[in-house]
Amino acid sequence: MACFFRRRIATKLGKTLQQPDDLFIPALSAVPVFRKQEGADMRLSINVLRTNGVLPTSGEIQQQTEHLAYQLKQDSVVEEISVGSAVINFKIHRKLLAKQILESFGTGHHGKIELNSELFNSLNKGTTLVEYSSPNIAKKFHAGHLRSTIIGNFIANLKQSLGNKVIRMNYLGDWGMQFGLLGVGFGQFGSQAQLKENPLQHLFEVYVKVNKEAERNEDTMLAARDFFRRLERHESQAVLLWQQFRDITVSEYRQIYERLGIRFDVYSGESFHQEGVKEVLCQLENQGLLKTTEMGTRIVELPAEVQSNICTILRSDGTSLYITRDVAAAIDRREKYHFDEMIYVTDKSQANHFQQLFQILRQMGHSWADRCHHIPFGLVQGMKTRSGEVVFLEDILSESRARMLLNMKQSKMTKEMDNAEDTAEKVGISALIVQDFKGPLQRDYKFDWDKVLQAQGDTGVFLQYTHARLSSLIRKNDDIDASTFDPALLTEQSGISVLQHLLRYDEVLYHSAQDLQPKHLLNFLLKLGHLTASAHRDLPVKGSPQQVAQARMRLFSGARSVLAHGMQILGIIPVDKM
Ligand code: ARG
Repeated sequence: MACFFRRRIATKLGKTLQQPDDLFIPALSAVPVFRKQEGADMRLSINVLRTNGVLPTSGEIQQQTEHLAYQLKQDSVVEEISVGSAVINFKIHRKLLAKQILESFGTGHHGKIELNSELFNSLNKGTTLVEYSSPNIAKKFHAGHLRSTIIGNFIANLKQSLGNKVIRMNYLGDWGMQFGLLGVGFGQFGSQAQLKENPLQHLFEVYVKVNKEAERNEDTMLAARDFFRRLERHESQAVLLWQQFRDITVSEYRQIYERLGIRFDVYSGESFHQEGVKEVLCQLENQGLLKTTEMGTRIVELPAEVQSNICTILRSDGTSLYITRDVAAAIDRREKYHFDEMIYVTDKSQANHFQQLFQILRQMGHSWADRCHHIPFGLVQGMKTRSGEVVFLEDILSESRARMLLNMKQSKMTKEMDNAEDTAEKVGISALIVQDFKGPLQRDYKFDWDKVLQAQGDTGVFLQYTHARLSSLIRKNDDIDASTFDPALLTEQSGISVLQHLLRYDEVLYHSAQDLQPKHLLNFLLKLGHLTASAHRDLPVKGSPQQVAQARMRLFSGARSVLAHGMQILGIIPVDKM
């Protein structure tokens, strides 16, 4: 990470220009590595420095840049200073570059990284509540839920690694008319044995059947309404059945999320907020925000900027809606968890819903609504398994595991191993994640198993393969003690390129924290993979003099630590063999 050098160069600039050092921190960045060419390590962007609002011409900027560069002298950190277009480039003494970076990543074998960088100081710490995944009981778990699950997990991991306290919440669709139908349907088509055997599948089947039935038969619909009414009145028989459906669903999901390496601190749900809804209605009423329409529904009027600026809060039969429960849920979360910010992760079709939600909260006087954010993502087309359309999360995981296992068996690269299934599962999941995180989250994309699982190119398989290779290198050389090393022995360009790239890690995380898009970190890791692959080719460990071998091992374990660290933030569990 570049923090040491950023501070040193800022101090140098501060002294020369008689200005506070901190002024220069945001304008200093690591230089991106291009084609392994010898180049500068850090640069100062003069454009970023201009804060007084007067726009100078590019000629003036260039003059200023050259003048400043002329005033700066080399020192024990900076070996060379050069001028580019509106930037000043700094080349750091090679030995110091290697020493500082590799020492900041711990002592070689299994070094865990300590993340601290001045860049993170300006980020809000505090408590972040991230709500993600949030499937609906008895309904399909579709590609959108999968995206919410992995994106939310990434955001939670990122925030946590930057020092926030994070609450991971799953908000189940566990209330509403679907339970009326399910209650009635279970009486007709349900079986306790099948519910135990294969709960999610069985609930879904019952739900599909009863829906068909209700379309044909009005009595079923009436019975369903009646069941839901009994549920809302907390009649014990209805509640018991509902509770069973919920418990069994949560325990199934828990296990599947575990396969993904995902956990939640709280399984909340729409059902938790029935009392809260009543309170919200009272408050809205007292604040004069609730209007009654001719049809007898109750609404809140929102300012014209909000798309669809009439928001229905209560149906004419007195039942609450999705949005009503969300208002109550948000207020409840704020009271319970005192979050500083709250993030909702759903597909972009719900963007309007969340804008309405935040606006209602604001109108009720909750200024913290400004710190609630919706992170929208695009649609995935064509996510299918061999047996057809995706209905359950488990299907996707099993399909990717099966396909990966087959690829591994056919591949020459794969080694014999004891836990091939487990590895195939982890690698398959990484492939799904990488495919999903490559572009901007808002973009829709077409799903294609063959593309997802490719070993070459920028895929999850490639990332895992890089990690496994580095791990194997470290295993094979475990007699080399890299806890001390001579940084002067890392002078070849392929090694320097890896180091230069590692310099960028804190910036990449900082950048990710700004817009919560995973692509910055993913692209950084993919490039790290390519750079270490060349370094691995150019810089053999076996057969090199002991001190050289030692220094190279230190380089590779540094690269591996950062790779593993970044993969884990993305939600990928690194494998050591494949
Ligand atoms: N269960 C909802 C669905 O599947 C997503 C819930 C999103 N979160 C929220 N607070 N509304 O569409």
